[in-house]
Amino acid sequence: MIYTDKEKKFKRYTVTTALPYANGPIHIGHMAGVYIPADIYARYLRLQGEELFFIGGSDEHGVPVTIRAKKEGCTPQDVVDRYHAIIKKSFEDFGMSFDVYSRTTSQTHYKTASEFFTKLYNEGKFIEQTTKQYYDEKEKTFLADRYITGTCPICGNEHAYGDQCEKCGSSLNATDLINPKSALSGNVPVLKETKHWFLPLNDYEAFLKDWILENHKEWKTNVYGQCKSWLDNGLQPRAVTRDLDWGIKVPVEGAEGKVLYVWFDAPIGYISNTIEKLGSSWEKWWKDKDTKLVHFIGKDNIVFHCIVFPAMLKAHGEFILPENVPANEFLNLENDKISTSRNWAVWLNEYLEDFPNKQDVLRYVLCANAPETKDNDFTWKDFQTRNNSELVAILGNFVNRTVVLTHKYFEGKVPQSYELNDTDKAAIEEIKAYPEKIGTLVETYKFRDALFELMNLARLGNKYLTENEPWKTIKTDEKRTSTVLNISLQICANLAVLCSPFLPFSAKKLQKMLNLDCNSWTQAGNIDILSVNSPINPAELLFERIEDEAIQKQIDKLNESKKQNELNNTAAEPQKENIQFDLFEKMDIRTGVILEAEKVAKTKKLLKLKVDTGIDQRTIVSGIAEHYKPEDIIGKRVCVLVNLAPKQLKGIESQGMILMAENALGELSFVTPEKPFNAGCSVR
Ligand code: 2FM
Ligand code: ZN
Repeated sequence: MIYTDKEKKFKRYTVTTALPYANGPIHIGHMAGVYIPADIYARYLRLQGEELFFIGGSDEHGVPVTIRAKKEGCTPQDVVDRYHAIIKKSFEDFGMSFDVYSRTTSQTHYKTASEFFTKLYNEGKFIEQTTKQYYDEKEKTFLADRYITGTCPICGNEHAYGDQCEKCGSSLNATDLINPKSALSGNVPVLKETKHWFLPLNDYEAFLKDWILENHKEWKTNVYGQCKSWLDNGLQPRAVTRDLDWGIKVPVEGAEGKVLYVWFDAPIGYISNTIEKLGSSWEKWWKDKDTKLVHFIGKDNIVFHCIVFPAMLKAHGEFILPENVPANEFLNLENDKISTSRNWAVWLNEYLEDFPNKQDVLRYVLCANAPETKDNDFTWKDFQTRNNSELVAILGNFVNRTVVLTHKYFEGKVPQSYELNDTDKAAIEEIKAYPEKIGTLVETYKFRDALFELMNLARLGNKYLTENEPWKTIKTDEKRTSTVLNISLQICANLAVLCSPFLPFSAKKLQKMLNLDCNSWTQAGNIDILSVNSPINPAELLFERIEDEAIQKQIDKLNESKKQNELNNTAAEPQKENIQFDLFEKMDIRTGVILEAEKVAKTKKLLKLKVDTGIDQRTIVSGIAEHYKPEDIIGKRVCVLVNLAPKQLKGIESQGMILMAENALGELSFVTPEKPFNAGCSVR
């Protein structure tokens, strides 16, 4: 049986968004992949009058949190408290319309997840297995795969992790690594037996094959394809517990030191968050067959949401299964993979600071360019172009022209519509089709196409206005101008309704301008939304141009990250051979102050400096002209090798050498005494 979502009518919708790890802020890749499409979907359904519960929350367990805590010398709870607050606030500021945003360290979640595990345990749904895992004898702890590093057996990268090699992308088992080392102590770990509980996914293979491969052929091809490949390869039992001290304790006797695997507890978080918000009325959202459950996620989460979590739900027996899992692919940034550890990202909280009140611009660009079927690239130039040539020039311009003309010719009141000509009738026919066209695309998770259609309506408006020239007809035929502006205002009102799932802030602004109370998708699709004579407020710009400087600032910020990364990744030069102390002692290094500086004619690199060495004022020629401007270094405190034999450089006698530090990119920096010491102090 193939059925589209539309053919089955549901009473209500439970919409979930992947719970982001609370070990760093949210970036544009998360937004484009998961949160913007989900928010459009939720806002659209509400406008359609559907009953909906829209769920978000932070995923606060797992090894990455503990790694960050160790690095920062704080507790895992400190880490998740900090990032949960940052993420929650940036989602709020961005206008995510969650019905709940909670966290997996909540008491409700601990209880819900423990009870879920206990039910499966009591019903014999798990198998117990003793396996050998790496153990750090010095730290007296089993090591999560992420805590083991070693050489990748595939590409030879010496810094591969126990679960993955980030260089060649292979997913690994810790026991595959050559020369494994504990990331905690640096020691060689030993293999030690440990008992864990496994969900025998192989027992659910037939059910999953039938449910997905036969009954959900309508799922997006990227999602369906990944499921098919997992199922075709055969499923294995999966451990649902870990040896770790951060997480939900395994609620079974004899399981000391063990916690639920983060991927076991996190999806249960969707249920816990519902319980937390709704109390006893939560069940219909998770147990009623008339509820449609939809998971919005990124492609790295497909296996967990389409295979593992459904198997857990099936094993439990009381819950509905997802009706759809519209996962997106990845968004790249300026042609490079987004990476938290390399700081190669546009962080949502920073965007909101750098571009205040421009939530809709980012929503627009990320939706227009969403990685729905393949990986896509975000560039700041494209961001600027889409803002200036689409939002400003098409949507904003149309609304502005219409509202300004209404004030100019009709005292800011909706003018009457008189006799319609063929152009009017054709435009009206087109307008009528938009709500259904856009709605169908949203319901089938084609948000890019839906947004494109929305802009087509604005394009239609611009074309209609331009072709009918109400500013000309006003001189000869006021009734014609009145009709054209009435229809144009009705197009604005249609836009005000239809853009609200996509551009909620601008929609509000536009609705206010038109004095329109918008509460239903069905308001759109006709040309009597605004009644004749109703007042229109003065025009307010919906969007403004973004200039080159703002874009350049963002590009510079990224370039700075790239540079820092290159520096972090470059090994220091190997050490030179040893010398005796007396050789070092022979060097007379002093603090000094630069008094004068000028370029040496006909050279690129040389500056002629006059330096106060405390002993005298002398001339030194230094190869720093490509790094410092003469006028910027007057008064600089430096270190000088004063007893270097004088040397002629371009006809100037140089009497010493200024010490410079050079980084891996060949950039130079003065070596400056950290306190403001006078010239002449010895350096030793
Ligand atoms: O990939 C991630 O960021 C996970 N924290 C997503 C979890 S989704 C759900 F299971 F909670
Ligand atoms: Zn590798």
